[in-house]
Amino acid sequence: MKPQTPPKTYRVKSFGCQMNVYDGERMGELLNEQGLSQAREGEDADLVVLNTCHIREKAAEKIYSDIGRLTKGKTQKKAPMIAVAGCVAQAEGEEIMARAPAVSMVVGPQAYHRLPNMLDKAVQGERATDTDMPAIAKFDSLPVRKRRSPTAFLTVQEGCDKFCTYCVVPYTRGAEISRPFSDLIGEARKLIETGAREITLLGQNVNAWSGEDEAGRAVGLAGLIHALARLDGLERIRYTTSHPNDMDDALIAAHGEVEQLMPYLHLPVQSGNDRVLKAMNRSHKVENYLRLLERFRAVRPDIALSGDFIVGFPGETEAEFEDTLKLVDEVRYAQAYSFKYSPRPGTPAATMDGQIAKEVMDDRLQRLQARIDRDQFAFNKSKAGQTTSVLVERKGKHPGQWLGKSPWLQSVWFEGNVAIGDMVEVNLVEAGPNSLRGEIGGTS
Ligand code: 5AD
Ligand code: SF4
Repeated sequence: MKPQTPPKTYRVKSFGCQMNVYDGERMGELLNEQGLSQAREGEDADLVVLNTCHIREKAAEKIYSDIGRLTKGKTQKKAPMIAVAGCVAQAEGEEIMARAPAVSMVVGPQAYHRLPNMLDKAVQGERATDTDMPAIAKFDSLPVRKRRSPTAFLTVQEGCDKFCTYCVVPYTRGAEISRPFSDLIGEARKLIETGAREITLLGQNVNAWSGEDEAGRAVGLAGLIHALARLDGLERIRYTTSHPNDMDDALIAAHGEVEQLMPYLHLPVQSGNDRVLKAMNRSHKVENYLRLLERFRAVRPDIALSGDFIVGFPGETEAEFEDTLKLVDEVRYAQAYSFKYSPRPGTPAATMDGQIAKEVMDDRLQRLQARIDRDQFAFNKSKAGQTTSVLVERKGKHPGQWLGKSPWLQSVWFEGNVAIGDMVEVNLVEAGPNSLRGEIGGTS
């Protein structure tokens, strides 16, 4: 590769989960430290970081078409320097380097703290790949956070040891690790100083987080949440994504004890049938899952429940799929995500017998989503007529309109004289399938 002009501006394009959004922000901060600035909306960037997701679909193929559009001047006038980051980089780094000569850097999710170094090499014309997994080192060498936003993500845990048979995460993100308590409190303080009023704790198995508090006591996620709740200025705490097997009494209890902990729980189940759960290596049964949800509802009756589902896992029969519908009918989720099974290379399920035809999956997904939509609309309607706090996150589509989130993570839009970051009392006057319209009361 020829030496390249040092880039002055960058754009990070993050795909997939919230952890990627967090990583994308932190890569941006690193590049800022290097003297680059974020390209403005609509402007060409000198460096484009594609922060990829490998969880479903032919994500890798999408990367090649994105690279193609960037180099052929279809996305922006001038072809930028390109870095591929995220889970596709981790899983297929060498292949990307071989197939896409326009790519200067390939960097895995555990190695992006070394991006500045790689950038120096790329400028000198040296292509660089780094897909090492020294998990903790990354956080230690990232710059202090300076972002300004009323809502912030904070990665507390990474990786997964569960090895569900359909999932690439244990391979791309590595083993479960927890960031140290004091680092997290420190990062949360910085986020609050720069305007965060809500922090969402992130982890592939966030409730597997464990650490030692200031007094050296072993604590789980509930202990961390209690400590965060004591920080001045932090008004809302959320966490995602949890695994049923890592749920403990203290975390359930925290939902009844910590005022700042929002009444929302994302607890994926994937299927409503025990045989399918076993084939998925989920290591929990439908019954345990339902009992867990009951315990959350007992301490926090208004809790909004959310989940993830996969339809068409290899061997799933019509009757087994109907068990998933039954589970949805029983739980009445406030919101949920559902996906068609997508074989991921290298995972056990990809080579299992009984792969399901696309049309069958399409049909099942549609039926499942219809029920989830029905319940989401019903949940939204159940809040109409109530007054609740809304944290203002951004301007709406129309002039004078604002958008924010209710405690139950619903989008609420309303008109009024407010600013981003205000916590406002809003009367929820009308419920739609995906959002609520509000009328403003007071501001704080
Ligand atoms: N196919 C379809 N969905 C998947 N998920 C993970 N792996 C796959 C796959 N191979 C879904 C699960 C998980 C969510 C993040 O993505 O529902 O909870
Ligand atoms: Fe993937 Fe299962 Fe780990 Fe979730 S718990 S990241 S679905 S292997």
